[in-house]
Amino acid sequence: MNLLATSALKSKGRRSQRGLLLAALFVVVGLVSAACYTGTGSYPVEVFSEMHYSQSFKAAEPPRLHPPLGSVPRNFRDGSDNGAELFAVNCSMCHGVTGKGNGTVLKALTIKYKYVPVMDPDLSSDAASSLSDEGIASLIRQGVNVMPSFSKLLTEEEIRLITQYVRTLQ
Ligand code: HEC
Repeated sequence: MNLLATSALKSKGRRSQRGLLLAALFVVVGLVSAACYTGTGSYPVEVFSEMHYSQSFKAAEPPRLHPPLGSVPRNFRDGSDNGAELFAVNCSMCHGVTGKGNGTVLKALTIKYKYVPVMDPDLSSDAASSLSDEGIASLIRQGVNVMPSFSKLLTEEEIRLITQYVRTLQ
């Protein structure tokens, strides 16, 4: 009886040893195949491939699909009317397409949320017209109250182009 129990224990021990060995084998095989995987990621052993390392997102690759017609353009370098485009994308939702201060977002802020602008958002107003170019540029950089700061969103060249365009609205 005693002998039977010890042999049963022994075989149980052997079985769990075999399980451990199998698990270790799985880990080794897993690591080796992960190391062999020629992924594009920055990790030497890439176990999980991530979306931003995926081939289709290579930075220098030209876009394969044309953007849908009428979508917001991402590239302002090839048009002659860059200031107008930049204004349309960054400012018109508040200041309106013609800069009269009647954009949809600002309308919602003033009507729905009862926001009272601290300056006249009409860019053709006397107040806005009397601003210097640098005055407009620094307002764009810093923002005013609900108007966001664009210093991290636009380059100095883009701010200059927008300022020039704002001048044509006055
Ligand atoms: C979220 C809405 C919003 C956006 C986006 C926005 N503005 Fe404004 N802007 C305002 C409001 C509102 C004011 C008036 C000050 C206030 O109450 O915040 C203002 C003020 C100004 C003024 C001063 C006007 C004056 O009477 O002297 C200028 C110039 C201006 N914005 C230019 C721009 C330009 C250029 C852009 C785009 C790069 C822009 N804004 C983007 C809301 C916005």
